[in-house]
Amino acid sequence: SDRINIAIDGPAGAGKSTVARLVAGQLGYVYIDTGAMYRAVTYSAQRLAIAANEQEQLGKLMKDIRIRLEPGESGQSVFVDDEEVTDKIRSLDVTRQVSHFAASGIVREVLGRMQRELAERKGVVMDGRDIGSHVLPNAELKIFLTASVRERASRRHRELSGVDVVPLEQLEAEIAERDRLDASREIAPLIQASDAIELDSSGMTIDEVVATIVRLSRTKL
Ligand code: C5P
Repeated sequence: SDRINIAIDGPAGAGKSTVARLVAGQLGYVYIDTGAMYRAVTYSAQRLAIAANEQEQLGKLMKDIRIRLEPGESGQSVFVDDEEVTDKIRSLDVTRQVSHFAASGIVREVLGRMQRELAERKGVVMDGRDIGSHVLPNAELKIFLTASVRERASRRHRELSGVDVVPLEQLEAEIAERDRLDASREIAPLIQASDAIELDSSGMTIDEVVATIVRLSRTKL
């Protein structure tokens, strides 16, 4: 066929979203940032003062939440029930809590269903933690993108603006903790699918990573 699905999974800060967006652009595919969906749920729950262990309240929230992803100037614009939350979901508050909400079964079930629907017609590049292993087990190309904790923390450190100065050591600790929570949760943990290709981006430029994935995608057509 002329379109495939590409899953890009890996730990926090490996550059998945940047790479996935550029790969999608080069192939004329749709980019879907599933982390943004978990962040949007976390933001909404926080607004409603729902805690990550309140399954019943979370179930109610997931019943009518509407999450919309739209291509924006710099990446993807995110809307929850028509409120734009693109920047709000990147706050430290959301970042520090999101893995706890992402461990909820009802949250994963509803978001997983939305993600499968978005990929039904093929031609998507989806980034996340469980896309190749769980959401799209039949994706034609699966990439597991990694980099050392040190490298991921220093990239994040360079990205953060003067307002949110966080010491490098603290960023390293927070990234390692998020990896630990994501990899150890019971439902659909962060794991490399057996048929995924591992790509360590330490010491590679973004363009090199993108070119590698685009080249691999052509072999799957
Ligand atoms: O990719 P990003 O760092 O924005 O993802 C935020 C969090 O959302 C992750 O740390 C993880 O807890 C959760 N997530 C997930 N499954 C996905 C994508 C993200 O559990 N497919």
